[in-house]
Amino acid sequence: MLYLFQSFWCQPKEIQAIISAQTHFEAQDSDVIVATIPKSGTTWLKALVFAVVNRRRFDVNSIEHPLQKSNPHDLVPFLEYKVYANNQVPNLSNLDSPRLFASHVPYNSLPKTLIKNSNCKVVYICRNPFDTFVSIWHFISKIRPTNLGPFSLEEAFDMYCMGQVGYGPYWDHMLGYWEESLKSPQKVMFLKYEDLKEDINLQVMRLAEFLGCPFSAQEERDHVVDEITKLCSFQNMKNFEVNKDGKSILNFDNKGLFRKGEVGDWVNLLSEEMVERLSKIMDEKLAGTGLEFPNIFKS
Ligand code: A3P
Repeated sequence: MLYLFQSFWCQPKEIQAIISAQTHFEAQDSDVIVATIPKSGTTWLKALVFAVVNRRRFDVNSIEHPLQKSNPHDLVPFLEYKVYANNQVPNLSNLDSPRLFASHVPYNSLPKTLIKNSNCKVVYICRNPFDTFVSIWHFISKIRPTNLGPFSLEEAFDMYCMGQVGYGPYWDHMLGYWEESLKSPQKVMFLKYEDLKEDINLQVMRLAEFLGCPFSAQEERDHVVDEITKLCSFQNMKNFEVNKDGKSILNFDNKGLFRKGEVGDWVNLLSEEMVERLSKIMDEKLAGTGLEFPNIFKS
């Protein structure tokens, strides 16, 4: 059951933690916030951000690297699912800096200290809405209690097109961060899943630059970028023991976070009518914004 709260859709149990984060979170200039809408590449981006900012602390090649032992959702916790969940208001001031957190809420619902009163950085990733929908539908179908029966593709798609998806409407979510990234490029970095799939090394170098820790010439010669992208690759992460057996968010199996990790899987699920309907919505919503997904109909 989704409720409309602060102009986005969410589950009632998430609201308390979102309000608590808005009320209590005190940003530090060195904080990094990974912001996404579900199923757009959150797990991947969390892993990359963690590996990049901590590369001098944790050897990327070590089998003891935290990403080999913990799921990215434990290393970069969500404000609304972990940090402020269950009515806790933790003292975060003693955490090592840079502190890494994540959130699914739209830009305007992030804690005010984070967007207004600090120089902390926000990294956002979005994904073409076709693949994002397909990924959501598979995920919900997997976690849905059996007594509710299957979630039909048609019903899920209809809700998605009406904007009714966790933290959606999807287009409002993307555009909120997109516009902010244009206004304040030093504050908000806007990434696309498809661009990461196309040239991960390039995007990781941009990410490091944005986060104020660019790769040195020596690191480039030592192939540190390759090592990070390999550590965080789909195949690699999917096969870490912790991601085969563990649980990180809301008691979901970590393995459910790694399905196919491809661009274009939507062609296997969506009918022509569905593609037409969603294309029309995206054309209308994104018109004149400069935000595009140019390669999704290529292959
Ligand atoms: P698919 O369902 O299309 O396979 P999120 O992390 O936001 O929940 O997004 C989940 C999607 O990202 C899933 O997409 C998942 O397979 C994919 N994914 C997870 N880890 C990835 C990685 N390291 N590289 C690329 N894609 C990844």
